[in-house]
Amino acid sequence: MITVLTGAQWGDEGKGKIVDFLAEDADIVVRYQGGDNAGHTVVNDKGVFKLHIVPCGIFNPKCTCFAGTGMVINAHELLKEIADIESKGVSCDNLKISGKAIMLMPYHITLDTLAEKGGNVIGTTKRGIAYAYSDRVRRIALRYEDLLDLDFLKKRLDVIIPIVNSELTAAGGSEVSVDSVYELCKSYADSLRSKIVEPVSFINKAIDAGKNILFEGQLGAMKDVDLGIYPYVTSSNPIAAYAAVSSGFSPLKINRIVGVMKAFSSAVGRGPFPTELDDDAASEFRGTGERVDDEFGARTGRARRLGWLDLATVRYSTIVNGYTDMAICKIDKLDTLEKIKVCVGYELDGKHIDYMPTTEQLYRVTPIYKEFEGWMCDTTSARTYDDLPEGAKQYVEFIEKYIGVRVSFVGVGPDRENTIVR
Ligand code: GDP
Ligand code: IMO
Ligand code: MG
Repeated sequence: MITVLTGAQWGDEGKGKIVDFLAEDADIVVRYQGGDNAGHTVVNDKGVFKLHIVPCGIFNPKCTCFAGTGMVINAHELLKEIADIESKGVSCDNLKISGKAIMLMPYHITLDTLAEKGGNVIGTTKRGIAYAYSDRVRRIALRYEDLLDLDFLKKRLDVIIPIVNSELTAAGGSEVSVDSVYELCKSYADSLRSKIVEPVSFINKAIDAGKNILFEGQLGAMKDVDLGIYPYVTSSNPIAAYAAVSSGFSPLKINRIVGVMKAFSSAVGRGPFPTELDDDAASEFRGTGERVDDEFGARTGRARRLGWLDLATVRYSTIVNGYTDMAICKIDKLDTLEKIKVCVGYELDGKHIDYMPTTEQLYRVTPIYKEFEGWMCDTTSARTYDDLPEGAKQYVEFIEKYIGVRVSFVGVGPDRENTIVR
């Protein structure tokens, strides 16, 4: 069984929680893109975790976790994350890294941070993501497999570092030396060598053996570099098909595509957000930051931008991903609202549109709202779909009908056990 799970909105939909839940039965969980820009929250019997690079299947000791080819991985952050997870009594022995994954280097972070101070501000996580992917595309990146052949890596650095240095100095940063980068890579090789795997045979042998494999996406469709709100996007493809592209197997082998959405909207970083609420109106959703499920970035701690559920966006994300199943998280966050608004379409220049407009037009659209009566009771103790109040069921079933995808999971709290299977 091959399942791909990914975000249906702008990220932070609750992917970490649902992956942790589904990974109880998985043989392998593969993160198929992104880097440590991710903050995937997991709350289970092992504690509270915000995972950045390590796949959220790590809590199942029988599951192999694979940091896949489509990723850009900061080795320093990975080693820190492994130490943190292991300090809480969870082993990372089952973590493997694709030899074809890209090494995100300290100079990528410097370039990202300097760019965010300049004219083209995207509101990135300043983790160097765009710069690592850009080096991959122009063929001057290092791959994890290079750590297994340090003589080859040294020759690559002789070519790469002069290019990097010209960019660092142009951006106002300091140069790096080939020797210092080489020594750093050597130390990463010592720590990570045993985890590096040839990815294509690894994945395809597992598929042929009928393993239960779960592909974990990072971020949501609206931040996809091709299909999202460009340029306010990340630099990779969170959409489901990319799991097959980056891992090197036939997309026809995917059996299930799970979208994860939250019951309202949130986004971090710049860009258009048609249903955004002002800070006062959003405070009901946001919380103060004390609770694990308050709306502050799991990676950067930034207050998330918040708004009503935007089904025009979720329908678009359904088209580009082809979900077979949807998980709706945070239904419980609507428990205290008397009225709930849902955007069911956009008007552009006075006309109803049935497509996703350009990013610039999206700033100008007027959302068309439908209003629901709130159910005004606690849902956090619900464990079956029938335990939910009628109003919450109507909300879920309206979404299901609107997007034409079965809602198979409903989240009513941050803990693994607050997940209803329908
Ligand atoms: P991800 O990036 O998609 O994994 O999502 P994040 O972890 O960044 O953000 C989701 C937030 O919602 C986290 O604080 C989770 O603990 C929380 N969360 C997930 N599902 C639920 C749910 O069903 N109810 C509530 N109250 N919180 C949830
Ligand atoms: P998860 O995995 C929310 C956003 C940034 C910015 C844009 C580009 O938890 O859903 P980048 O650092 O990737 O170059 O930033 O993408 N962004 C996220 N927003 N959740 C995330 O991760 C994000 N990762 C990146 O805010 O708008
Ligand atoms: Mg997140």
